[in-house]
Amino acid sequence: MDDTKNEFNKSMSEGSSFLKEIVEKNITQKLIPKGMSWFGCMGGISLVAFLVQTITGIFLMFYFIPGTKEAMASIQNITHHVPFGWFVQRIHAVGPHIMIAMVISHMVRIFFKGIYRHPRELHWVSGSCLFILTLLMYFTGNLLSVGNMSELFTIRLSFLYAVHVAVIPAIMGLFMGMHFFMIRKTGIYESL
Ligand code: HEM
Repeated sequence: MDDTKNEFNKSMSEGSSFLKEIVEKNITQKLIPKGMSWFGCMGGISLVAFLVQTITGIFLMFYFIPGTKEAMASIQNITHHVPFGWFVQRIHAVGPHIMIAMVISHMVRIFFKGIYRHPRELHWVSGSCLFILTLLMYFTGNLLSVGNMSELFTIRLSFLYAVHVAVIPAIMGLFMGMHFFMIRKTGIYESL
């Protein structure tokens, strides 16, 4: 019995030191460039904005109904009856404007500093795809909440919903993976 307990304690402490090492290596002891400005943080803030949209979007999926008649009513239900629904719905509706502003600022910095040049051409290309995908998320999301659609749009609305909640986010995840992998390969532009 004691042996099993010791074995368990040993693997727990091994697990926590492994986790500590990962956190230290990637977060707490990671170097950031000297004199880092807010403008230089726009890529990271875009990522945070994307995660906020993902988390609030998952919450909304539990209550949103993608039907021509039901869509508007389900949004009303979220804002008036679901606990904290109004808050989450507002964040999900305002967030895209902030995210687009952050992505554009990130892009502008990279353009004016000439960071898109070799060896970072593919960072720029994958980033441009991310920008287009962000705009597509905004466009499809807005269409989902448009009321008074005719019956003809029922199928289109469910199609649009699948594109908004699954297809584009999956492609974005893929491009973000590529973007971050390449940034890790070349390192960031500003010296540490
Ligand atoms: C959802 C959209 C995006 C996210 C979440 C994102 C995220 C990031 C992050 C976290 C970094 C590393 C830190 C930094 O330098 O800011 C980065 C770097 C970079 N991004 Fe983006 N990005 C996005 C869109 C774009 C766009 C639209 C472009 C350009 C068309 C772009 C081009 C680049 C380049 C060239 C770098 C390397 C910067 C360097 O080496 O210092 N990204 N991105």
